[in-house]
Amino acid sequence: MKKLDSNPFVVSGYLGGNYFCDRLTETKKIVKLILNGNNLTLISPRRMGKSGLIKHVFAQSEVNDFIKIYSDILATSNLEGFVNVLGNAWIRQAFGSGKRRLNKVLDILKSFHPVIRLDPFTGLPEVEISTRSEAEKTDNLENLLYRISKEENQIIIAIDEFQQIMDYPEENMEALLRGILQQLPQVRFIFSGSRMHLMNAMFTQTSRPFYQSTRIMFLNPIDSLEYGRFISEKFISGGRIIEQEAIDWLLEWTRGHTYYVQYLCNWLYSEGYTRISPAVISKVTGEILMELQPVFDQYRQLLAPRQYELVRAVARENNVKSVLSGGFIARHSLGTPSSVSTSLKAMIEKDVIRDSGEGYRVDDLFFSRWLEEKS
Ligand SMILES: Nc1ncnc2c1ncn2[C@@H]1O[C@H](COP(=O)(O)OP(=O)(O)OP(=O)(O)O)[C@@H](O)[C@H]1O
Ligand SMILES: [Mg+2]
Repeated sequence: MKKLDSNPFVVSGYLGGNYFCDRLTETKKIVKLILNGNNLTLISPRRMGKSGLIKHVFAQSEVNDFIKIYSDILATSNLEGFVNVLGNAWIRQAFGSGKRRLNKVLDILKSFHPVIRLDPFTGLPEVEISTRSEAEKTDNLENLLYRISKEENQIIIAIDEFQQIMDYPEENMEALLRGILQQLPQVRFIFSGSRMHLMNAMFTQTSRPFYQSTRIMFLNPIDSLEYGRFISEKFISGGRIIEQEAIDWLLEWTRGHTYYVQYLCNWLYSEGYTRISPAVISKVTGEILMELQPVFDQYRQLLAPRQYELVRAVARENNVKSVLSGGFIARHSLGTPSSVSTSLKAMIEKDVIRDSGEGYRVDDLFFSRWLEEKS
């Protein structure tokens, strides 16, 4: 059996082009947009591969000369948190370019009077910039972005999980950021997010500050032919074989949704199967759902009975065009349209159900597959 650390199916982060399947068209398009002075908004359901794609774009030779700063603001809850994440992303980037640059960036950041400590895991310096007044927070953001923009090279700043700014207590975040960005035409921005209704609203509603300020890209599942080829090649390189029918089954069961494909393949690989048939896939998918059972039991307890019934009905139909149609409600005995409508709204807000534009689905593929089999 191969060692787990040589598993070619990555389930977290980006480990380089060798482990990255396809996305050729998307990568080319994003590079082109950046080189032509555009900002980009990248939207997709969770776990489709946005963060990976951003890092893949950053690894392309065409953007070698850019300074590329990747920040993820998911864990932030206010403007101060945003500034800190951005400052630390800049440090991480500088660290990758050598000691001199790191010291230069740290010197600049010292003017913000931060507390500086070393991250115990990476050994990297980390700044914590605290502020007293609202005005100071805004100044810090403006100053930080301005200082970054003064770097010698051109700059790309990616802000992942961007919809998070809508949860900040500061009310004018969108207008504030948009205003600052307009003053930094030499910096390219990539905004990325998975809460699709929030991202869509922020970038496509005429009344919002970010309206028409970026090119918008919706990330779809990877082409199944390409994914099938990638999966087959990786198993063959590891001295194993996966039958074509098994690949077809796997891609159908996961709906080609990147994270779930990777997870299932990683599991298959780590179990050391040398020949993978549809029967193996069937066994392994059962094992995965069994392992996740306690998590799903908990999800179930967090939902009101009516919400649970609705979510299960959506899972059973896979993709529901109209949740409020009489047929769907009657088939699953869901009660009155108004109560279904209330549950639907709550489930969309909590990201349990997602509207893909072509129908409603349970957001978590494994949960969806588990529900299909539940009485
Ligand atoms: N093109 C790809 N080839 C192989 N694996 C990929 C590819 N894109 C993403 N992945 C893997 O799929 C998983 C999900 O990708 P990623 O984290 O980039 O998605 P995301 O859309 O940013 O998700 P989230 O919305 O949860 O942040 C990760 O484990 C990542 O390593
Ligand atoms: Mg991500």
